Amino acid sequence: MITSDQFRRVMSNFATGITVVTTHDSNGQPCGLTVNSFTSVSLDPLLVLVCFDKKLSSLQAFKDSKWFGVSMLSKRQEDLSRLFAKRDSERPVTLYFQGRLGMPLLKNSLAVMECETLDIYPGGDHLIFLGEVKNAEVLQVEEPLLYFRGKYRTLDGD
Ligand SMILES: Cc1cc2nc3c(=O)[nH]c(=O)nc-3n(C[C@H](O)[C@H](O)[C@H](O)COP(=O)(O)O)c2cc1C
Repeated sequence: MITSDQFRRVMSNFATGITVVTTHDSNGQPCGLTVNSFTSVSLDPLLVLVCFDKKLSSLQAFKDSKWFGVSMLSKRQEDLSRLFAKRDSERPVTLYFQGRLGMPLLKNSLAVMECETLDIYPGGDHLIFLGEVKNAEVLQVEEPLLYFRGKYRTLDGD
């Protein structure tokens, strides 16, 4: 029997990058969260997935808008990762710029995508959002923010 703590400990050995996934709520306000379950899925068509906790406060907004933005964070954006992993934190609108297709995206990210939600699959206590990539751009050449064994890391080990 594997406990959820043991599962977490094992999974924490799988190093990931960090994204902030965003959309608009029913009032047109940006909302979003820190996500490391982001994965590319297919080249033809271009598909990615993200897994959302069913308890996510902005879940309905993601379901309703049928679009999501992905901002891949640089090593200079650890504060943003923490901010978007904290419920009801203050997120000034100046953090965002509007993507070509209208999604709110984070300024100074490494790269961004805008995706249309094609399907939502059950995944235990999470939901798997499959998105078709409709816009994708590299914004700057900078080192990534990483997450490994429960800590933020950078490529040079800072
Ligand atoms: C490094 C990191 C990765 C995360 N990845 C995910 C994820 O893939 N899916 C998810 O639902 N929550 C993830 N979270 C947790 C959410 O960012 C966090 O619970 C957030 O507060 C949820 O938004 P809410 O408070 O508005 O419900 C992650 C948190 C961190 C720090």
